[in-house]
Amino acid sequence: MPMPHHTVHPLISIAEIEAAIDRLAAEVRRDLTVRPLTVLGVLNGSLMFVADLMRKLNQPHQLGLIQVSSYRGPVTQPGSLRINSEFLPAIAGRDVLLLDDILDTGRTLAALVNLLHQQSPASVRTAVMLWKRCRTEVDIHPDYVGFEIPDQFVVGYGLDYDGDYRHLPYIGVVNFDGASTTGT
Ligand code: IMP
Ligand code: MG
Repeated sequence: MPMPHHTVHPLISIAEIEAAIDRLAAEVRRDLTVRPLTVLGVLNGSLMFVADLMRKLNQPHQLGLIQVSSYRGPVTQPGSLRINSEFLPAIAGRDVLLLDDILDTGRTLAALVNLLHQQSPASVRTAVMLWKRCRTEVDIHPDYVGFEIPDQFVVGYGLDYDGDYRHLPYIGVVNFDGASTTGT
């Protein structure tokens, strides 16, 4: 089915993302220093976030990736999750920093945190570039947050709309016809 007509408007700039990465990296460096660290990225959306944050951490860490897909429509109706943890490294006794692009209902991160705790890590913390706090349905509070955003559909910096726009180096809001959120 073709995508409905829509436009993308800048919301968070490249410079603002860079500043957020610097701040988050400093917070992580402050908190996670004692035990061996595993940075665990949730694919596909966290790809850019993981790559940017890793380069600013300045401390040894292991990288792991976990793939999650949900049965959703193009604009993310919450659905049931499929988790592929085939590439999850051993995390027993380690501090785990789980990175995702966005926390929306919170179901994805909550399910992953539960799954990780079954592997006996020393600790599990979560970092998200974006948090739609007003939509969060489960009892989860991310430890590190780039930006809180209102209930808008966003793309870029790893986030997609029906498979597209992940490549944008900034974050934009998708406006659908007749549903402009900027009033323009
Ligand atoms: P949650 O389980 O509802 O928190 O869903 C999180 C996942 O939904 C994210 O990892 C994204 O893949 C997707 N998602 C939620 N909101 C948006 C959005 O505004 N743009 C693009 N993807 C989104
Ligand atoms: Mg995602």
